Amino acid sequence: MASNRSLLVLPGDGIGPEVMREVYRVVEWMDHRRHVSFALQEDLVGGSAIDAHGVPLADATMEKAQAADAVLLGAVGGPKWDNLDFSVKPERGLLRLRKELGLFANLRPAICFSALVEASSLKPEIVEGLDIMIVRELTGGVYFGEPRGIEDLGNGERRGVNTQVYTTSEIHRVARVAFELARKRGNRVTSCEKANVMESGVLWREEVQKLHDAEYADVGLEHMYADNAAMQLVRAPKQFDVIVTDNLFGDILSDEAAMLTGSLGMLPSASLGDADATGRRHALYEPVHGSAPDIAGKELANPIATLLSFAMALRYSFDLADDATMIETAVQQVLAGGLRTADIMSTGKAKVSTSTMGDAIVRELDKQAA
Ligand code: NAD
Ligand code: IPM
Ligand code: MN
Repeated sequence: MASNRSLLVLPGDGIGPEVMREVYRVVEWMDHRRHVSFALQEDLVGGSAIDAHGVPLADATMEKAQAADAVLLGAVGGPKWDNLDFSVKPERGLLRLRKELGLFANLRPAICFSALVEASSLKPEIVEGLDIMIVRELTGGVYFGEPRGIEDLGNGERRGVNTQVYTTSEIHRVARVAFELARKRGNRVTSCEKANVMESGVLWREEVQKLHDAEYADVGLEHMYADNAAMQLVRAPKQFDVIVTDNLFGDILSDEAAMLTGSLGMLPSASLGDADATGRRHALYEPVHGSAPDIAGKELANPIATLLSFAMALRYSFDLADDATMIETAVQQVLAGGLRTADIMSTGKAKVSTSTMGDAIVRELDKQAA
């Protein structure tokens, strides 16, 4: 029987297709062993789409994304396309997907698996048991604000302009996601901005506070300047439960949080929009890392962030929480068994290739299903 779970896969560039291969193996495994199938479609995004169509995201691909229950993306970008005009760079393909699908809430969980406590660049006691959720605003702020551009001032000077803009409703909708998530976790939200220097930060702080007082007074709320938050994340990260912040600060703080978990190759993400009248909501799942041009084509990439992103898709888009947990448990078991890709800074552990890590995870899934 044809599956009604539609998933659009966009492997992208660099290590994107390499890590996506391991997801396909898990998809196949689910079909055989769990009788859970997906109507899969694959298409191009980023540099690979530029090479084929001259644009980083073809309109036909955008239409497929609009029609799919979920999109799973590998990574985009690379040196080959770095000097293209800004409007057609690989990264614009990803930004278009986020904007046109209305994916304003980007959930970036940073969880330190117990086996990787020793792999963090921080002391074990600082990261042991770490479980924080960064909620990054994804369709506004300085990424999309107008005016923007580079202008020639005619006197040998050029001027680059970007604009940080937020409206009340943009702040409320992402803060609501953070408060709702907090209620199901540690019930604490830290909201980060720079209200000391930016008007958009003042508005952010006031509106998050207003929403809290009106609807979420039961949830603990703290406001913190984003620079202090960056410092606190490496000083005492376990003070955080849910962090809510803007597009740019969220980008930076989530890469920083990745290193608390052992490697950027471990961090998944889910980007969600609001449900429409029929209850349907767009969603895109992707690892937090990029296309890693320095290791692309070498079978060195860690596929775990992408596998965990697929697990998030199972949980948030397909109501398959048990299957998501199976994947997360398999990852945990494989790490506990000592297997590591090269990005994980563990001493004295076997370093394995992308596909060997995938093999081990599928074997672990087999054990769970037996
Ligand atoms: P990056 O995340 O690609 O790489 C940073 C470092 O982490 C590199 O040393 C890389 O080898 C390593 N790394 C990242 N993911 C890894 C994995 N799964 N396994 C092992 N090591 C891993 O960031 P960058 O180098 O700043 O950017 C490279 C390109 O990727 C740029 O074109 C950038 O725009 C793009 N990018 C895309 C996304 C995305 O598609 N969502 C995210 C970030 C960066
Ligand atoms: C990310 C990336 C993207 C971002 C780029 C590739 C557009 O860094 O997803 O974290 O800045 O949002
Ligand atoms: Mn980033």
